[in-house]
Formats: sequence, structure tokens, C-alpha cells
Amino acid sequence: MRKPLIAANWKMFKTPTEAVAFTDAFLPLVASQTHAEIVLCPAMTSLAATLAATKGTHVHIGAQTMDWHDNGAYTGETSPLMLNAIGATHVLIGHSERRQYFNENDTTVNLKLKAALAHGIVPIVCVGEHRKEREEGLTNDVLKLQLSIALEGIDPAAASPLVIAYEPVWAIGTGLTATPEMAEEAHKFIRAEIAAALGHHLAASTRILYGGSVKPDNAAALCSLNDIDGALVGGASLDPASFAQIVINSAA
Ligand code: PGA
Repeated sequence: MRKPLIAANWKMFKTPTEAVAFTDAFLPLVASQTHAEIVLCPAMTSLAATLAATKGTHVHIGAQTMDWHDNGAYTGETSPLMLNAIGATHVLIGHSERRQYFNENDTTVNLKLKAALAHGIVPIVCVGEHRKEREEGLTNDVLKLQLSIALEGIDPAAASPLVIAYEPVWAIGTGLTATPEMAEEAHKFIRAEIAAALGHHLAASTRILYGGSVKPDNAAALCSLNDIDGALVGGASLDPASFAQIVINSAA
């Protein structure tokens, strides 16, 4: 009942020309891969080119962040209305790099989540613990706090597009991956928290992605688990063959 979602987070990589070179190589490799929703999240300056290059295909395009206001004097920001206008359908919210370098916090995540839902953009809300927090046995406490603030005031009736990405911060870009057991345990916990906040029905249909050093060779083991509904991929999504292989392996 939950269609897997495999998303590429290109971070601050790829010019429009490079993005289109990616899609030229990538689209034929995933032409028959309809088991999953595929989303590419380029930098803002490559959104338009990537949208044009994927038009008419089953590949969706998302932004890596957005502001929660419709418009206003917010220099440098991009609004949900602007994403709607160009056809971007998804948005990453609260990625750990946004939290670490750009002052994003659970409160702004909540505002952005509400704005995305209000504007029909699929929100991919990122949560996850730091290494020290895991070592101290605080993983569930961290997830609980992040989710309780992120989901505060969300109307369950309007929240069906919600996607959560569990991204242990210590696994992002490090080559360290949560073991399938660790990931499954965290995903189960996250689903229970969604149930507590928004009800069992929504929790059962919400997709929870794993992120953190997902590669072609670990995608199958992670995605085969009950509570893992796809992946958010950074480094390994920059190469078309590698990302296509992750999409293919996620079906295995
Ligand atoms: P990574 O990044 O796959 O390079 O670890 C994941 C992410 O930041 O979403």
C-alpha cells in the first residue's frame, strides 16, 4: 500500500547543463522502473532545466528547501508558490545540513511542513540523531522531540502526502550506514510516533525513507525491510548509473 519513494539529494552540486546530462543518461536506465516514485532534488538554479528535461516522464522534481511564506521581503528564499509555479512537486524539509549550517530547527520545520501541505507539495521531512546521541542511547528521545514539534498542529485529514526521512546524522556522507536492524528499529519508532500524533491510519500510509550513505550495494537490504519505504540518497545519487542501480535494487 505504500509506494516506495527513492529521492536524490544533489545538495550544492550540478549546474543546469550537468543536471540535464544526468537526466539524459538516467531516464533510459529507469524507464521501466515504475515500482517506485523517483524524485530528483537539484539546486534551485537547476530546477527549471531538470523539470524541462523530465517532462512527460515518471520522474518527479523537488527542491532541497523552501521558505514557508507565500512571498515577502525574505532575500534569497524561495516560496511554495514559486515551486508550484514551475512544477516542482516535492520538497526536502529540515535536512541535517540545513539544521547545522542554516539555523533550521524543529519550529521552522513545522512551519515549512504546514506550508508544503497547504500548497500541495509533497514534504520530505528529515529527522535523525547525532553520533553522540546514539552512543548515549538518546536516539528515540531525539526522534520523539523532532517529530512532536514537526507534526504539531498538523491536520491528519490533510497530511496524507507526508513523507519522513530517517537520516542518522553520523551516516550522512560518511560511508557509515545504519545496519538494517538499526534502521528498521528507528523506522518502527517513527511510525509509532506518527500514529501517536496523527493516528494509526495515517501512520500506516506514511512513507518513511532511510538516508545516510545509501549505495547500490546496500539499497536492497534496507528497502526490503517492512518499515523502510524507500531512500533519500546524497553522494550516490550524483552519478546516473549509481542512482539508477539504487532505484532498481530497491525493488529487489
Ligand atoms: P549521503 O547523503 O547519501 O551522501 O550520505 C544523504 C543525505 O544527505 O540526504
